[in-house]
Amino acid sequence: MNMPREAQKLHRDIAARLRTAGIDTARLDGRLIIRHVTGLNDVDLIAQPQTLVCDRHIAQIDEMIDRRRAGEPISRLTGYKEFFGREFKVTPATLDPRPDTEALAETALLLLRGLSGDGPARVLDIGTGTGAIIITLLAEMLSATGVATDKSADALEVCRSNAVALGVGGRLETFCTNWAGGVIGTFDLVVSNPPYIASHEIAGLAADVRDYDPDLALDGGADGLDAYRAIFADAAGWLRPEGYLLVEFGKGQHGEVVNIAAQEGLTLIDDGTGLVRDLAGVIRCAIFRVC
Ligand SMILES: C[S@@+](CC[C@H](N)C(=O)[O-])C[C@H]1O[C@@H](n2cnc3c(N)ncnc32)[C@H](O)[C@@H]1O
Repeated sequence: MNMPREAQKLHRDIAARLRTAGIDTARLDGRLIIRHVTGLNDVDLIAQPQTLVCDRHIAQIDEMIDRRRAGEPISRLTGYKEFFGREFKVTPATLDPRPDTEALAETALLLLRGLSGDGPARVLDIGTGTGAIIITLLAEMLSATGVATDKSADALEVCRSNAVALGVGGRLETFCTNWAGGVIGTFDLVVSNPPYIASHEIAGLAADVRDYDPDLALDGGADGLDAYRAIFADAAGWLRPEGYLLVEFGKGQHGEVVNIAAQEGLTLIDDGTGLVRDLAGVIRCAIFRVC
């Protein structure tokens, strides 16, 4: 049986155990595990370091440490992932929202503010997963409304629950469909972070991606680019005349993505800002318009 432990000392111990397993986010993960199990947040850990954590909670924490040390992502343990400063529920049906995708969200906000200021704007998010992108946009732009699609009904349920929890449920419609088939209307901005890993590369992905993110969210077909062919073929029909299409892709895919877009009459915006880099300097998104 475990003895009750003081929270701050327990946090130090958890971080040390995670660090010895080679986890370089050990301190952060430790805080997230403690918060998940006990409800003590970061401020509590500093302001009330001697708060006692009971033996039952310590047993739960030990189990989570073992799973984390075995490679399970922290978000899969807690069921939540932070994106753009908000917490999104994740499940086995959804991709973990990635920090890389914050570059797309930031760019989308700039485009929307340029188009409509604080006025009404319509956004379509194709392959929404947790809803991280579109929910962020609606939460940041209070007069925006949107439609989120996914082929996975389970992922869409997660998106809806996140939208309600984050206060934008009344401004977001969800639609279970292949890409955006059957979606009615036109949009100021269409965004998508579709699956873009070539099928034959999936087996070689890092285990924390391959074993926990759903295949439907990863597999982009033989060359990884199937989604772009499908989405670009119909994009002109979803865009308002001044509207933008903003897509994310993998490292090194931008040349092929731009070529596929050109074949469908979409051009990169021409002021040198059409290709967007993420924080690591990787070209991660492209902004298109109908020619
Ligand atoms: C890379 S994940 C992106 C999820 C989310 N937008 C994000 O950025 O975190 C791709 C998403 O596309 C969805 N998807 C895959 N194929 C689809 C299709 N044919 N039609 C609609 N959605 C699809 C997956 O279920 C998954 O949620």
